[in-house]
Amino acid sequence: MAQEGEHQSMVRYHIADAGLRKRGVRKVEWADRDMPVLRMIRERFAKGKPLKGIRLAACLHVTSETANLMRTLKAGGADVALCASNPLSTQDDVAAALVGEYGVPTFAIRGEDNKTYYAHIRACLDRKPRITMDDGADLVTTILTERKDLAPGILGSLEETTTGVIRLRAMEKDGVLLFPVIAVNDADTKHLFDNRYGTGQSTIDAVMRATNMLLAGRTVVVAGYGYCGKGVSARARGMGANVIITETDPLRALEAVMDGFRVMPMFEAARIGDIFITVTGNTSVIRAEHFKVMKDGAIVCNSGHFNVEVDIEALRKLSKEVVEDVRTNVDRYALRNGRSIFLLAKGRLVNLAAAEGHPPCVMDMSFATQALTCEYVLRNEGKLAAKVHEVPAEVERQVAELKLRSMGVRCDRLTDEQVRYLGSWREGT
Ligand code: ADE
Repeated sequence: MAQEGEHQSMVRYHIADAGLRKRGVRKVEWADRDMPVLRMIRERFAKGKPLKGIRLAACLHVTSETANLMRTLKAGGADVALCASNPLSTQDDVAAALVGEYGVPTFAIRGEDNKTYYAHIRACLDRKPRITMDDGADLVTTILTERKDLAPGILGSLEETTTGVIRLRAMEKDGVLLFPVIAVNDADTKHLFDNRYGTGQSTIDAVMRATNMLLAGRTVVVAGYGYCGKGVSARARGMGANVIITETDPLRALEAVMDGFRVMPMFEAARIGDIFITVTGNTSVIRAEHFKVMKDGAIVCNSGHFNVEVDIEALRKLSKEVVEDVRTNVDRYALRNGRSIFLLAKGRLVNLAAAEGHPPCVMDMSFATQALTCEYVLRNEGKLAAKVHEVPAEVERQVAELKLRSMGVRCDRLTDEQVRYLGSWREGT
């Protein structure tokens, strides 16, 4: 039974089971051990309170790593509320810990339907946030479509993922963006690590947890060779799989070829793949024409943000029967041609639905970048235009330096001569 209630100073929440608090706290503390940069920022925030009194709404995957970000923002004095950025990624025990232990109004239940998902977004917006934080741009989209009254009060919005940044740039292009947005995803301290190593490891982890299949010797088809695709394919190859890449961008296709992968159209790959993983950010990447030629027993999953990369409706139409949960997170589609296709996590991002998302070590960098960018937005109140901005270089540098320090790794510094050399153009051959 989901629990809705009041907590502390009459803040409302909506979570699955408050009784899971203790288990959630243990998970959050475990993650915190591997998030040293965020911890350092939290300690500084607790002293200086740079976010004092700022109402902040976050729509993120409700995981133990996100809980540590919420703790950090709260330590900085922010009045935070959290809702889920995907109906299947919520860790209910962490949601219970957020409400019961950390005092964060949380609106998230694993498996919530679309109506509840949006009710939770609206509940966060009802708190009239001054800063919003999105993973997929659903808060910003809801503000622009339903709650325009909130726009004048918004100092800035932060976006965590590639898909969200694509949506926000489309809003900017259409001239509908009403407040500044910072593309946290595009920071090097985010996508070079989180998208590549995080998605790489957590996606393979999810396929293994869901199917318990040996990857060695299997043909794994990865659709998309952005940073996520690069990470997934490298890790699949590391497990001994034969990896095929499909791409629509010739430059990325070429990069995949030179990285040693086979590249071919999905229609060809569909006939030979054992496991299919989409990470394109686009729609209907695997569709009817592909399902029809797949081998019996093919595994299909998605690790992109939205559940549109696999055309599930087309798969359903080709099937005479759908058997849900043949294993946890595995549905069997029995096609009319006599073959079966297994869909993982209902086509939702498999790394969060069937595993735990990116490991804390990498979310440490993404969320440190988020926390410091929040501070930047506040310091620049009124100065940022209503468009998509990059994360400032000083934030990136600080996160990278702190991460290196936490790992006990030192790097060289430019000498004065080198600084002069790099700043001059007169010296040549
Ligand atoms: N996105 C991917 N992995 C995540 C995680 N562990 N927590 C929050 N957001 C994520």
